[in-house]
Parts: sequence; structure tokens; C-alpha cells
Amino acid sequence: MKHAACQIDKAYTIADIDPKLYGSFIEHLGRAVYSGIYEPTHSRADEQGFRQDVLELVRELSVPIVRYPGGNFVSGYRWTDGIGPVDARPKRLDYAWLSVEPNQIGIDEFVDWCKKANTQVMAAVNLGTGTPQDAGYMMEYCNHPAGTYWSDLRRKNGHKEPHAIKTWCLGNEMDGPWQTGALSAAAYGEKAREAAKIMKWIDPSVELVCCGSSSPLLDSYPEWDRIVLEHTYEQVDYISMHRYYENEGSVENFLTSYIDMDEFIKTVAATADYVKAKTRSKKTMKISFDEWNVWYIQKQVRFPWMEAPPILEDQYSLLDALVFGGMLCTLLNNADRVKMACLAQLVNVIAPIFTEKGGRVLKQAIYYPFQQVSTYGRGKSLKTLTKADCINTPDRGMVPAMQIAASYNEQDDSISVFVLNCEMKEDTEFTLDLRSFGKVEMIEHSILAGPDLFAKNTFENSQAVVPKNEIPVVGTTVFQIVLPKLSWHVFRFIVIK
Ligand code: AHR
Repeated sequence: MKHAACQIDKAYTIADIDPKLYGSFIEHLGRAVYSGIYEPTHSRADEQGFRQDVLELVRELSVPIVRYPGGNFVSGYRWTDGIGPVDARPKRLDYAWLSVEPNQIGIDEFVDWCKKANTQVMAAVNLGTGTPQDAGYMMEYCNHPAGTYWSDLRRKNGHKEPHAIKTWCLGNEMDGPWQTGALSAAAYGEKAREAAKIMKWIDPSVELVCCGSSSPLLDSYPEWDRIVLEHTYEQVDYISMHRYYENEGSVENFLTSYIDMDEFIKTVAATADYVKAKTRSKKTMKISFDEWNVWYIQKQVRFPWMEAPPILEDQYSLLDALVFGGMLCTLLNNADRVKMACLAQLVNVIAPIFTEKGGRVLKQAIYYPFQQVSTYGRGKSLKTLTKADCINTPDRGMVPAMQIAASYNEQDDSISVFVLNCEMKEDTEFTLDLRSFGKVEMIEHSILAGPDLFAKNTFENSQAVVPKNEIPVVGTTVFQIVLPKLSWHVFRFIVIK
């Protein structure tokens, strides 16, 4: 039997958790839009062609913000192709994914979809082939009330009230050689700053996200972040981060991906703080981790010049869901700097929700940890003091086998503790010390585990990877629980008055 102990003190908070930590992403990519959120011929389509079976699951995930329309797609996208009469919209080649884009959905329809999904839009402007002027026109179309060319065009297109989109991305992954119109850090920094000036002149209430490093594996990291921020520090509110992990052969390495994610966040925060000092700024830069997930990048295939090709349709296993849970904990543990994050993506494309064209909808394994943390990881993020036996990982050496995050919600006096147990061989005797809260009662213990690490949910067996409820342990201050090897846990407590 292995051992681990964790102490959580009510007085030691990391930060208030910004609800935007639980954002997601819909890109015009593969079947995310077409036969994902939108399929007018589907039996569950509403009057606008949106799939209501998908909307129900999106609402269940409690996603407060959804990034749109890309991603790589946005860097060659003309947003004007997606407005006005649908029949008159052009089909275009999408250079990012080698697909054909039919433009049946654009910003106006996406705003409507977000209202139905109880979420907000995080809009991205094209700073690849697009110009700062185009970004300004899009801002005017979306957020200016009336009386100008672009705002009146929105009204003519059926939206009298401004969309009032509050959060905007200044391009996407402009450091990536794969990006349409990729730029050097200095060139992007200048372009982003000029776009930001125009956008904030039009609507000073908006918040802007500049492109940080799209991966710590790029040679330009972290110089990219420094140079971009030196150009944009006063004009932007967030710097973005993107990171995906895949199983490259070592389960130990893969399980402990959260350590790499944590180091990445700390480095970008330190780089931003250096620029803050250098520019004598009073503002602390927020981080938008607006693409994160497990993604089998090396296995991706393309179907050139197809409409809505079935690409990036990763099917997630129990192991993937465990890794994913560890990443969620890292976001919570960095809630003082990460004020927004987007699970990439939401439907069909590396996503928790998977659809059949014309058919059923499925919750993938990663759906569950996301839903649990998004539902219960609210309020304040708390520091966790953890001592655990170590596992040996090829890349990171000996590391503690446990990743833990916790939240305290003042509204209902509840505590949630999220635990990833990476121990691979034996069960772990786990001691959880909550005595600083006075007396508490465990009201829920949910566990995701199983004999087959590679089990996946399918339409034929949709319950292969689902959390199960254990009988809560009786106690009031310190709890002893046996955690099976390779498992994800959510413990919920209420404070006894
Ligand atoms: O989410 C899939 C792709 O990953 C996005 O389009 C891009 O920004 C990133 O490289």
C-alpha cells in the first residue's frame, strides 16, 4: 500500500476562481460546426438548424465562454463571408485545414447559438491575412450600436442590438510556422498593438488577448512572449497559452503532463512580470490558456478540399481522462494568473461531445472530469499541502504520484477536492485533513477508474468510462480513504454549522 496525505487550510487561498477558467472552443474545423453544433436536417435541429441534443450537453458542461471561429482557421478567414443572406455566401478554400468552408454559419448565427447554450462568445480576429482595419470593421459590426456602415449592416442582417462581445483574441498562434500569415514576434507585436488600439477606440469596454507562445516546444519560446508583450503591454489584458499532450509511449510521462503545464504557466507569468517591470507598468498581465487538451497530433489525417471532413476526431480513453483531470487541477492551482482557459475543443474535434451525422450524441471520457470541475470548482481556489510517495517517470525523474486541487464556495459553504492518483502499481492510503474548516461532512465521493486504461465510450457502449459514486467516508475533520491505483476523484464536503 502506498501513502499520501493532504492538508487544506481555509485561510490559504490562491485566488478567486474566474468562471472563465471553464471556457471552450468551437472552430470552423472538421465537423465541429457542420454536423456538430449545426445540422439543419437532423431530427433534433431547432428552427435555426442547431442540434438541440448537442446544446443540452453543452449546457450541462457549464461553459461560460466559447472561443470562435479559430484557431488556425481564423488566420485566413474573411469574417464578411459569414454575414448576410445565407444563400449568397461564398464557399472558400480553408488553407488551415485544407477544407472547403461553406460559410453557412458566421458570427451572427454563432452569437445566437451562444445564447441558447448559456454562454458568451470569445471572438478571434484574423491577424494572418487580415489587417488591423478589418479587425476594427468586425468590432464595429459586432459592438457599435448603430448609425455607421458596419453597425447598420448588422441591424439589416437581423440583429438590432449590438452583440456586445466582451472578449477578443488578436489572431491565433502567430508564432507557428503552420499559421497562414505567420509573423515574427516584433511584426506580430506591432500589428496586434495597432489592431488593439482601433478595437479599444471603438469599444473601450472590451478585453483583448494577444498571442503568446503556442507551445513551449517552439524555439521562439519564451522570447516570443517577451517581445510581443514589450510591444503590446498596455493595450492588451491577457497573453494566450496553448498546450496539448499525447501518450508518446510512457504512461508515467503522460500522466504527469500537468507538471509540464505548470512549468509552462510559471514561465509565461515570469516573462510577463519581467515586461511589467521593464515597462514600469502597474498592471499584472492575465493569462488566457485558450487551448488545452489531450490531442493525438501525430495521428491526425487530412481529407483535402472536403466540406466538414471527419478530422481530429480523437476518441478518448480512461487514461486520457486521468491526464485531463491532472491538467484541470493545474489550471485551478494557477487561478491567480490563469483567468481564462478554453478546453480545445467542444464538439467532434478533439472534444468531450461527439456526434453522429444524422444520429446520436455521445459523452466522451473527458466529458466527466470537465463537467465535475466546471460545476464544483467554483469560488476560491485553495492551496493544498500534499505529501505523496513518488513514481519514476522517464522524463521527469521521481515525482509525487498525486496531483490535487481544491476549491471553497462561500455561497453554500462547500469544499471540493479533486485528486489524480498517478500511482500505477498499488492502491494508496490517503489522509485528507480539513480540520481548519471546523466540522465538515463528506457528501459525495465520485471516482473514475477501471481495469482497462484504454477503455473508451462508444455509441455501442456509452458507459465504458463514467464516474461512479462511492459511499462517502464518515468523519468530521480528518478522512482516511483508500484510492485505487490510477484513479480520478472528486470529494465534496459541506461545513457543519
Ligand atoms: O485546436 C486545434 C488547433 O490547434 C487550432 O486550430 C490551433 O490554434 C492549434 O494549433
